[in-house]
Amino acid sequence: MHKIALIPGDGTGPEVTAEAVKVLDAAAAACGFKYETTNFDFGGDRYLATNEVLPETAVDELRGFDAILLGAIGHPGVKPGILEKGILLRLRFELDLYINLRPVKLYAGVETPLVGKGPEHIDFVVVRENTEGLYAGAGGTLKKGTPDEVAVQESINTRKGVERCLRYAFDYTRSRNKEKTLTLCGKTNVLTFAFDLWERAFNEVGEADYPDIKRDYAHVDATCMWMVKNPEWFDVIVTDNMFGDIITDLGAMVQGGMGIAAGGNINPDSVSMFEPIGGSAPKYTGQGVINPMAAISSCQMMLSHLGEREASDRVEKAVIHVLSKKLKSMSAGKMGYTTAQVGDLVAEAVADPPS
Ligand code: IPM
Ligand code: MN
Repeated sequence: MHKIALIPGDGTGPEVTAEAVKVLDAAAAACGFKYETTNFDFGGDRYLATNEVLPETAVDELRGFDAILLGAIGHPGVKPGILEKGILLRLRFELDLYINLRPVKLYAGVETPLVGKGPEHIDFVVVRENTEGLYAGAGGTLKKGTPDEVAVQESINTRKGVERCLRYAFDYTRSRNKEKTLTLCGKTNVLTFAFDLWERAFNEVGEADYPDIKRDYAHVDATCMWMVKNPEWFDVIVTDNMFGDIITDLGAMVQGGMGIAAGGNINPDSVSMFEPIGGSAPKYTGQGVINPMAAISSCQMMLSHLGEREASDRVEKAVIHVLSKKLKSMSAGKMGYTTAQVGDLVAEAVADPPS
C-alpha cells in the first residue's frame, strides 16, 4: 500500500492533480497495486484565510508518507516569495529533497521550437542540486532603503551537499545506460570558489567510483547554447540549484512547453515530492483548459520512484499515445480537449493499452 500525500495547491494545481490521480487510479487497477491518498490544503487560499503558510506539524506529518504529489504553488493575491519560500522551498529543505530531477524529453507528436530537431535529438535529464547554492538564503541587507544600500546573497556549496548530488547523478547516468556521459554545468571561469569545489568533487568521485561514466564539462552559458543548438549532445547534466532552475525552464520549452515538463524533488532515502515544473497559471484557473500532462508525467515519475516499474511504463506509453494521436497542441485552450478529457484519454490508454 503506497501512502501518497496530495498537495493540489493553487490556481490550476487542483485541476491537474485530479487528472494525475485519475491516471494513478487506472494504473493501480491495471497493475494490481494499492494506494491511498491524503489531501493537504496548503497554498494561497489557506494562507489568506488563516494567515499561516504551513502548519507546524506539516513537515513531520509528510515524512510519514511514501511520496508527495504537488500541483502548483503561487497565488495572485499573495506577495511573491511568501508561498514559494514558505511551502515549496521549505519542504525541499526540511525534507532534505536534495535532488531535483528534471527529464527533458521530446515525445513524438509534440512540437519543439528547435527547427530540425525531433525526439531522436531531445532526450536528456537535468539533475539539479535542490537544497544549497543561492537558494540557501545566506546573505542580508545593510542600510536598506537608503542610497548606500548593500545587498549580499551568497551561494552556499558544501562538500557533502555537492558530493551527494554528484553521486546521485553518476548513479543515474549509469542506470539510464544511454551515452554514459555526465556533463557538469558550472561557471569555473568566474565562480572560482564554488565551481572549483564542484569540479574537484566531480573529478575525484568520477575517477574513483565511476570509471565507466564519461565526464564532460560545460559553462552554464554554453550549456544554454548547446541545449538549443545541439541538444543531442547531452545525456545527463548535473548542476547547482540556481543554474538548474534556469536551464530547466529552457529545457521545458525545448521539450514542448510548461504543459508537459515534469519533475521530482528526491531524497533517495526518504519521502520524495513530485511536481510539474510550471506554475499555478491563475488566468486559466477553473476553466478546464490547462494541460494536465506535466502533472500526469510527474505522477509517472512518482510510480517509477515507488518501484512500480510496470505501472510507470504503462503510463508513459499512454502519455505518448495521447500526445501523438490525440492532442492538437500542448497549450492551454488549444489541446482540442478539456483538462478532464485529456486525463480520461490517458487513463483509458493505461487501462487498455493501444497496440
Ligand atoms: C521551480 C520554481 C521554484 C524554484 C520557485 C517557485 C521557488 O521556479 O521549481 O523551478 O525557483 O525552484
Ligand atoms: Mn524554476
